[in-house]
Formats: sequence, structure tokens, C-alpha cells
Amino acid sequence: MDIKVFSNQVEASAFLVDQYKQLLADGAEVFGLATGGTPEEFYKQLGESDVDFSDKVSINLDEYYGLTPGHPKSYHYYMEDKLFHNKPFAQSFIPKGDTDDVEAELERYNGVLADHPIDVQLLGIGTNGHIGFNEPGSPIDGQTQFVDLTQATIEANTRFFENIDDVPTKAISMGLGSIMAAKKIILIAFGDNKADAIEKTVNGPVTTDVPASILQNHDDVTLVLDEAAAAKLK
Ligand code: F6R
Repeated sequence: MDIKVFSNQVEASAFLVDQYKQLLADGAEVFGLATGGTPEEFYKQLGESDVDFSDKVSINLDEYYGLTPGHPKSYHYYMEDKLFHNKPFAQSFIPKGDTDDVEAELERYNGVLADHPIDVQLLGIGTNGHIGFNEPGSPIDGQTQFVDLTQATIEANTRFFENIDDVPTKAISMGLGSIMAAKKIILIAFGDNKADAIEKTVNGPVTTDVPASILQNHDDVTLVLDEAAAAKLK
């Protein structure tokens, strides 16, 4: 793994903008995207930059089950609000959280991934090591999954909702196998609450108990960290 450590999110995000400019120059066409607090500064800086995704494809990792695309806490809404409104892609795919046929939606999304192999997948990481919404114990070769969120994830995501009872308990997520199929993976982590998960991702055994540890088996992974998230690395 290539590990880059920056003194703060702003510097890390500026580095990421340069990386994405390079990826575009190198011909990347399909961009796997993440949501959550971590990429917000990066998306803000991308929005202010001159990058152009208007003939590219984006594919998001996951969506809460039960939320319509227009729901202000849905990841559809997040992507529109944080990035797509000023950096549109030619085509953008996000799982449909309000589907009434989950099995058909999983199949549809696997079809999207098969039709558009991801050149670069952006990831955040949960305090429990989850990537996408692949919680500890998720199948290592899994494709798009209908998942139960763990209590740790529900509690972590309460900050985006009015109260914990409003946080969806299920999601549709690309699987670990789908993520590992990306040609390149960039994982971002900021803050001391991510330091344990990052240490286990880098140094720990490869185990689905810490889903991000399987990234050790991928040959093109960059971790973009602030000093707090990198604090437990030796
Ligand atoms: C989001 C996602 C999650 C988050 C992770 C960290 O699309 O797939 O894995 O990246 O939960 O969330 P934040 O960035 O809010 O700490």
C-alpha cells in the first residue's frame, strides 16, 4: 500500500484533486465514489477546480435502504448536493434505496458494475473497518449486497440525522469483491477515531473481521490520511 500522510484534510484533499486530474489525463473513465463526512472537503475542492467529468461515469458504493432519492439524508441527495450539481457526469449510478424488489436491484447494480469496470474507487472507512457498507464478517468475494448496518455504524451515522431512530438500519452496498475489482483504490481517513481501523488495515491480518484489511491483497491501493488517522502506524 502507498500511504500518504498530510497535516490536515484541506492539504489531503488538494492532493486528491491533483491525483484525479492525473487519472483523467491518464484516461480514467469510470469513477467509483463514496459518501460520508470524509470526502466532503475533497468534493468541495473538486467543485472549485477545473476538472471535467461530463463525459465520464460515476458509480457510488452504497445507499440507505428505504430512503427515496429526494430524501435529504439519502446518498443520492448527498451526491447531488456535494458534487454532481457543479460537476455532473455523463452517467451516474447509485443503488436505489427505495426499491420494492431488492433482489432485482442487486442484480441491476451488478450489471452496472459489469458494464462499467471501475478505474478508480474512492473509499472512506468505518471505525470498525467497514468499506462501503461491508460490515465485519462480510463475504470476501461478495458482489452487491443487501446489508444490515451494525450498531457501531448506526451510532456513527446518527450525526447526520435528527436522532438515532431516524438512521436506516439496512443498506444496499457494493460487495468486497466488487470493490476489489476496481483497477485502483484510494482510501481516505481523517481523525483519531479512524486510527485503530487504519492500523489494522495496514498491519493487521487479512480478515473479514476488518473488511478494509483485504485491501492488502490489491496491488494498487493508496491511503490518504491526516496525521491523526495515521497516528498508530509505525
Ligand atoms: C459511504 C461509505 C462508508 C463511509 C464510512 C466512513 O459511502 O461507504 O463506508 O465511507 O462509513 O464514513 P465517514 O466518512 O462519515 O466517517
